[in-house]
Amino acid sequence: MHCVFEHLERASLATLPTALEAGPVLEGGVRLWIKRDDLTGLGGGGNKARKLEFLCGEALARGAKALVTVGAAQSNHCRMTAAAGAKLGIEVHLVLAGDKPERASGNQLLSTLFGAQLHFTGAGESHWGELEIASEALTEQLAADGLAPYAIPVGGSTAVGALGYALAFGELLEQFEQANISPTALVFTSSSGGTHAGLLAGRALAMAAGQVVPEVVAIGVAKGVNGGLPDVAEMANEVVGLLRATDPEGQGSKDGVSAADVEVDTRWIGDDYAVPTIEGDAAISWAARRGGWLLDRTYSGKGMSGMLGLASEGRFTEGDDVVFVHTGGWPALFSPHGTPLASD
Ligand SMILES: Cc1ncc(COP(=O)(O)O)c(C=O)c1O
Repeated sequence: MHCVFEHLERASLATLPTALEAGPVLEGGVRLWIKRDDLTGLGGGGNKARKLEFLCGEALARGAKALVTVGAAQSNHCRMTAAAGAKLGIEVHLVLAGDKPERASGNQLLSTLFGAQLHFTGAGESHWGELEIASEALTEQLAADGLAPYAIPVGGSTAVGALGYALAFGELLEQFEQANISPTALVFTSSSGGTHAGLLAGRALAMAAGQVVPEVVAIGVAKGVNGGLPDVAEMANEVVGLLRATDPEGQGSKDGVSAADVEVDTRWIGDDYAVPTIEGDAAISWAARRGGWLLDRTYSGKGMSGMLGLASEGRFTEGDDVVFVHTGGWPALFSPHGTPLASD
């Protein structure tokens, strides 16, 4: 269950590699590929499994007997942390936005099933600062109780968590070689920035090693640094630093990630985080009917709306291969107002 990746502590939680699946040809003649990170295996799957491998590796190495993390009411990250704790035999505390519902549904239902303790703060969705303050108070209390708690910030987005996506970038390059393709872009949903930072770190290291790499295009569904979330370039450079230490020969030691490498397309967020959009809902229906892919209204539906929008705007060239990294989120379909069909 607990192994070391070179000098990095890592818990084995995800089923890897995830599949790279050929999708349809989109408007503009672009071939879509889907990286199935919705199928990472842990507690219903999703992108957080990759981050949690390294976060939980560090927690175990520090002797933690409890994990504490925070999230929106229907946080996928919280649900997957609950599953990680169940798998590793560590108690899990989730500090959530909103009030306790009469009946748990979607991600909250699954988190409860995985045995986590849910702490409702009454905070607004995406009031990350307020959630972090509540998490700190709870972490102090658990420390006083002798549980040596390991606190994970929103989305698991620290450099340690983002390591998972630096490795995912390498996994993708191997799959491109096997499929004999050279995609021009990776497009994915971004919120707390850890997935983005990890992919950019992996890209910087691969470029420094002379490999041909795709562009990394994030579809932003939360208000990023302005909303109190981490700086992606800073986090990516920390990830590069952590990985360089595995490679004393210094492969990739010249190049880091600059602010100019960070592309976040925020046009698909709509009114705010977790507020559905017409385009996102259309993308959910399109994906379900086109490939049986399950997307959600807060994250991957908006991400896919950006993917399809970019293709129809002519961002890519006819004949390009473009990869949508499917980061998961299906359990939220089973929450109140979670599906376009049920709530329209
Ligand atoms: C389904 C899904 N997609 C994408 C993201 C965004 O990932 P990140 O927080 O690493 O930006 C999340 C984060 O919670 C998510 O749950």
